[in-house]
Amino acid sequence: MSFSPRDFRDCLGQFTTGVAVVTTRAEDGSKAGITINSFASVSLDPALVLFSVDQRAATHALFAGSCTRFCINILRQDQQAISELFSAPGQNGWETVGFEDDGHGMPRLRGSLAAFSCKRHAIHDGGDHSIIVGHVDNLVMGETGEPLLYYGGRYRGLKSE
Ligand SMILES: Cc1cc2nc3c(=O)[nH]c(=O)nc-3n(C[C@H](O)[C@H](O)[C@H](O)COP(=O)(O)O)c2cc1C
Repeated sequence: MSFSPRDFRDCLGQFTTGVAVVTTRAEDGSKAGITINSFASVSLDPALVLFSVDQRAATHALFAGSCTRFCINILRQDQQAISELFSAPGQNGWETVGFEDDGHGMPRLRGSLAAFSCKRHAIHDGGDHSIIVGHVDNLVMGETGEPLLYYGGRYRGLKSE
């Protein structure tokens, strides 16, 4: 390999993304979530989307295991604190987050730009990550507003001018 892991991350960081939180509910009823920027659309018909989850993440066992439903919440710029909460190790701050049932028992975050309620469609090998493909069976266009962006390892916002 002619490049270092740092070079790889730095180059990947040149691709601007939005930020989402994937939420789910474990078999014992407890809520879990992870901040991701690996969200991508896959297919229009059927409606499929994907994200990748690090095999070392605490939530990996849920998304690649018992949790076959999840909700992908696209964050607004003023939801950066929620992104930070769900990217912190051992996060446990649900009492500070507004959410509602997505109609399938999953917690949908209030105030998001959009939310996709998914049933797991497939899991693919993704090296040190697992690629989780979800079949979207419900969606909500949420609040209007600016998206939270991530570029160069930092949160950003759209410039309006
Ligand atoms: C903007 C941003 C995007 C992220 N995207 C991903 C991602 O796509 N997949 C992933 O596994 N982790 C991603 N992470 C890291 C996880 O959010 C973080 O490692 C995890 O929640 C840490 O908690 P845990 O160690 O308790 O699992 C991202 C973090 C941030 C701040």
